[in-house]
Amino acid sequence: MHAAAAGNVGKATRRRLEQVAAAYEDQVRLLADLLAPLGVEQSAMNEPTHRGVGTRLPLEQGLTNYYVNVHRDWSWGAEENAAGLAEVAVVLGGNLRGLGRTLVQGAGTGRLAFDLHQAGDATLTVATDFNPLLLFVAREMFAGRALELYEFAIAPRSLEDHAPLRRLASPGAARAGLELVAADALHAPFADGAFDTVVTPWFIDIIGEPFARVAARVNLLLKPGGRWINTGSMAFSRAAHADRIGLEEALEMLPAAGFGEVSVRENTLPYMRSPASRHSRLENVVTWVARKSGAAAELPRARVLPEWLLQPDRPVPRTPAFEMQAISSRVHAFLLAMINGERSARDMARMLVEQRLMTAEEAEPQVILFLTRLHEESETQ
Ligand SMILES: C[S@@+](CC[C@H](N)C(=O)[O-])C[C@H]1O[C@@H](n2cnc3c(N)ncnc32)[C@H](O)[C@@H]1O
Repeated sequence: MHAAAAGNVGKATRRRLEQVAAAYEDQVRLLADLLAPLGVEQSAMNEPTHRGVGTRLPLEQGLTNYYVNVHRDWSWGAEENAAGLAEVAVVLGGNLRGLGRTLVQGAGTGRLAFDLHQAGDATLTVATDFNPLLLFVAREMFAGRALELYEFAIAPRSLEDHAPLRRLASPGAARAGLELVAADALHAPFADGAFDTVVTPWFIDIIGEPFARVAARVNLLLKPGGRWINTGSMAFSRAAHADRIGLEEALEMLPAAGFGEVSVRENTLPYMRSPASRHSRLENVVTWVARKSGAAAELPRARVLPEWLLQPDRPVPRTPAFEMQAISSRVHAFLLAMINGERSARDMARMLVEQRLMTAEEAEPQVILFLTRLHEESETQ
């Protein structure tokens, strides 16, 4: 906003900045209302403390991750949601009835869970996720109440499209039996064999576990003869190389995970096509239904925290990774402390060499690199 404040921007830019600034401000109010039941205001620990002691959420899973799903699910119209549901219907032979007790893992804001429950005859459909923002939106939608939230489009088509206020609404309150549970899928709070159907929509490639283990977890939740419906992308690009599997490998692993009778389908669908944005994607969506034929060869391990975290009186080991982190934090702290409004990058490099933290050759380029990053980060904030 600095340029607008200085008055040296065009009319359209000024209008955009004013609109977006007003939208951000109003969005804060709307989100605070929606999330009020969380009691964040009463939280004893402030954000810098969380940062300091490392108790923030993992970087890849923040509150606003998948925020765009809110709008795709409940405000852009039927097209994408109907297409997603149709993929599931096709692998089920056109029959969405008879799913029985159903669990939808990583349900997000819940549109697929809602549509499956409404179209079928399940007496219980449990939608889980661990993102409170998405869950609170789902709760309102399942109850048939409308909400307003702003959309922040990636490539706005017009001035008005930078931050349109969207009305989110479901086609009506859900039938009885559609429930929301806030839960980490890696510690699912359900008894073994509790479900006839487990659905994993756009989930297996973001959960951060090797596919075989995800499949074994699904198996454990299913009754004998129960069905696993998976639908979504297969973008394992952030996994370790060995775990970046494709469809052939996933299908090859299903028998060892205790699944048979697999029916699979691939179809290219429009994805995140916001009416406000010039940007959207085409995704080749993989959908399968597989029947539980037995137990998985290997039981999924729980993600166990080390003893020294569970028992605060145990010594914390100085692992090579911690050692590396300690060195880089020391250098960063030293560099930050040297910034006093007078010293140049060269002065700082000289001091690093004097402190034997770096060699003369590496010090100056490293200091410049560090200061460049610092500058860029402060600009983006
Ligand atoms: C790619 S989104 C898909 C959302 C929704 N299923 C859909 O198709 O639009 C992945 C979802 O999984 C959730 N998620 C990620 N890790 C999770 C975990 N460990 N436990 C529960 N939910 C998780 C995210 O919060 C997010 O809503």
